[in-house]
Parts: sequence; C-alpha cells; structure tokens
Amino acid sequence: MTIHYNLEAPLRLILDTDPGVDDAIAILMALAARQAEVLALTTVGGNVPRARATRNALALLQAAGRPGIPVARGAARPLSGRFRPSVAFHGPGGLSVRLPEPSATTAGQGAVDFLADSLMSSPTGPTIIALGPLTNLSRLERSRPGILHRSGGVVIMGGAVETAGNVTPRAEFNFHSDPLAAAHVLGLGSPMTLVDLAACRQVGISREQAAGLSAGTSLGRLAARIVQGWFARDERRQRFEFYDPLAVALALDPGVATMRPVALTVGVTEGDHWGETTIAGEPGPIALAAKVDASRFFDLLGELLEWRGFEVNA
Ligand code: RIB
Ligand code: CA
Repeated sequence: MTIHYNLEAPLRLILDTDPGVDDAIAILMALAARQAEVLALTTVGGNVPRARATRNALALLQAAGRPGIPVARGAARPLSGRFRPSVAFHGPGGLSVRLPEPSATTAGQGAVDFLADSLMSSPTGPTIIALGPLTNLSRLERSRPGILHRSGGVVIMGGAVETAGNVTPRAEFNFHSDPLAAAHVLGLGSPMTLVDLAACRQVGISREQAAGLSAGTSLGRLAARIVQGWFARDERRQRFEFYDPLAVALALDPGVATMRPVALTVGVTEGDHWGETTIAGEPGPIALAAKVDASRFFDLLGELLEWRGFEVNA
C-alpha cells in the first residue's frame, strides 16, 4: 500500500516534544517519511525534566543518523502549577533503551525564538506537531500574537474528549501538565488538529505483537527496540498505544482519521476539573480526530519504519 502523502509539497515539520517513549516513535516516523522534512525539534519539560527531554531529543537524532537537525530548548515548567513528570510510564531516563550520549548541543536560540524565526522566515511556515505540554506554543503566541497562523498547520496530541483521562479521571497528561497553555492555544480560534486519548486508544499493539516485531531499516529497528523495551520494563504491561505517533501519522496522511469540528475549553481551576477538555461548541475551529482507520495507520507505520511481523490491531 502506498503512503498517502500530501504530494503537493513536501511537509516541513517542527516537532515540539518531551521524549518520552511514544514521542521517540513519532520522531522516528517523521524522520523516515520521504515526503516530509524535519526542520527541528523543540523540547519541553513533560514526561521527563526539560534537560532529560532535550538530551533524549539530541540522542535520538544522533542514533537516527541525523545529528545536524537543530534541537531548541523550551520551557522547563508550566505557565502555572507544578511540574509533574510521568516517570512511571516512561521511566526515569524517559526512553526504554539506552542511547549513547549525544555529541551535538542545542541550538543557540530557545524554543520560542526558534519557532518564531522559523514561522517568520517564509510566507507559509512549517507544520508544528505538538507532542507534549503546550507551554512553548502558548509562550510563542503570547510573545507574538497571531504567529501560529503563519504555520502550515498545527497538530496537537492532547486532551481526553468525552473519555477518561490518563492522569486523573478527567484529564490527559499533556493538558493536565499545563492547562493554562492548552486553554490558550485551543482558544486561539485558529484551525488546528487535535488527537486526543479517545483517538489514540484506537491504535495499539499487544505485548505479543511487539515481541514479533522486526524491521527492515535501522530506524525501524530502533523504534521496535523502544516499544519492546517499554514492555520489558513492566511485565504487567499488555498494550502499547500510539499517542504521539498518531499525531505524526495524521500530519502525513489526514485520511488516517475522520474529523469532528469542535470548539474546546480546558479546565484551569484547581480541583477535579484541572486539565479537563470539554466541547464548548460544534462546529468549531478544532478538527478533533474521531474514527481512526487503524489499518491505514498501521500500514503507514509499517511502511515508514519497515516493521514486519505484526498484524493490524483492530
Ligand atoms: O497523554 C499522552 C501524552 O502524554 C503523550 O504525548 C505522552 O508522550 C505524554 O507526553
Ligand atoms: Ca509526548
């Protein structure tokens, strides 16, 4: 099956990320996509502290043979509230494999200035894929109102819309980590795509499927090792869900899911509703991924990473 790329023009991508096991798979997918160019990674404290997320981003690029891609360091903590990493899921190092220490260092600019310059440097800027707390994007918009309109698109992994959260019963990790930033970005009114937990839970693989994984490329083998390493860290783990990879897949192939146009709000008051994502109106400017075509997602994933030995998980 051929990949459904946006053939009009190669996709120029900047990934804002807190690697992070699933971030790592998403980054490797983007690097493998022939019709996309990863211009840079910007980092944010989330799954792990900013320093570790930044180190992991540099280490992944080095392991992928792309040490020249810039990594710009972003926010260490949310706009307000405490920084609460997700060590249980990602492990203290943030990745489920040991990678050699990177020799490259971060870009001279911080993430906000780097993103601003990238968006201002051409009439249509890069597509921004946000895979962690939205602190960097919120700070970018606060410093330069309207600048995200210059992007080629914004795809966000976050939120739990009409489904249970993964940090509290109502809140998903990225939005729970910085609800003020999430509320600000989703409330901008500019068109963007949101991949929430309800969408991501439609695409996962079992421990047995992961064990059977093999790959035809070094990128694919690294990605397989990362997923297999995640299962190995805890024998209770039975299913790995492709949170951040689904956001990259949708950027590469919008046909991977149907979309529901909504307006969303995010809870910003301390208590049970902190970080909760609620539909505030329909239709609206946010294209919310609804029904995922799991076969199309796994075909894309399998082709990008040349993964073999796992059948589609319905
Ligand atoms: O809730 C899932 C999201 O939180 C993913 O981006 C994962 O990497 C974590 O950051
Ligand atoms: Ca992430």
